[in-house]
Amino acid sequence: MRIEDKKVLAALEELGVDLKSDASLTDITYLGIGGTTDLLRLTRHESIPQVVKLLEANGIPFKFIGGGSNLLVADNVLPWVVMQLAQPDPDVVIEGNIATVDAAADLGKTVTLCAKHDLGGMEGLIGVPGTVGGALRMNAGAYGIQIGNYVREVKVYRGGARIIETLKGDQISFEYRHTSFAPDDMMLAVKLELPSKPFREILQGIRICNEKRRASQPLGQKSAGCIFKNPPGASAGRMIDELGLKGLSVGDARVSDRHANFFVNAGRATAKDMLALIADVRERVQKAYGFELENEVVVWNA
Ligand code: EPU
Repeated sequence: MRIEDKKVLAALEELGVDLKSDASLTDITYLGIGGTTDLLRLTRHESIPQVVKLLEANGIPFKFIGGGSNLLVADNVLPWVVMQLAQPDPDVVIEGNIATVDAAADLGKTVTLCAKHDLGGMEGLIGVPGTVGGALRMNAGAYGIQIGNYVREVKVYRGGARIIETLKGDQISFEYRHTSFAPDDMMLAVKLELPSKPFREILQGIRICNEKRRASQPLGQKSAGCIFKNPPGASAGRMIDELGLKGLSVGDARVSDRHANFFVNAGRATAKDMLALIADVRERVQKAYGFELENEVVVWNA
């Protein structure tokens, strides 16, 4: 979708929006899949309600994107524009055991920076790609750690009420890869309360998680991490592997040879290819094991 109305373009600029016309989501998403649209980078949190109002008044549909690491976007010209927070400098401020982090901050860099201040707890998240906002919205987790455990406060744009609100940690529910945020809420910033730990000890934990990840996941390849959530008491990766589906492909969309719940873009996969592969694997698992696998990856169909 392209915004062409000069008045709208001027108003967006006034509100601190940096617009990249005809951006390719292939370049933004970790899967390297997605069509083209206008990308609106927001430099001022406080102007978001006005930006949304302006778009709505002009009939321009929109979506919010974080780091694009857990996202499968439709092909071709997209029927909505995409908004993304610009990264402020600094994006992490540490006082005592509290790290105040902008939602656009890189998750891995945040974990490392906190470690340098002797704040631990998030070691397991070190290899999880994407932004802190994205991790927060879906309660990203790995190696027994979930980001939700450390949330003290969240500043969020509420899509329903169209206001910016600050929520206390206990007003939000964090479950396995799920939170009580609405789909149209946009994370703006978070206060994390982290346990004190010596840097060397945190570093040791980080090394162990990195090694485990390197040994079991296809890190150098384009992927969105795990495609399916694990059903209660079962492992999606193990079931797909047991069915002999590693290497199964539709076009360049392929079940990883390394971890069967990672589907990689081995070249020029399209969303259509990836969705067909997901549907095929889901059906085979359903037939063989009776589990209806739920997507872990977020899908933006056009
Ligand atoms: N397994 C296989 N074959 C495979 C993959 C896994 O047999 O191809 C087996 C493993 O040997 C293991 C079991 O399945 O016994 C579980 O595998 P793994 O330890 O790799 O963990 P997972 O349940 O597949 C989860 C998260 C990952 C996270 C890891 C580490 C989900 C959907 N996945 O994977 O998160 O990194 O644990 O904590 O919860 C993600 O969310 O995108 C993600 C990658």
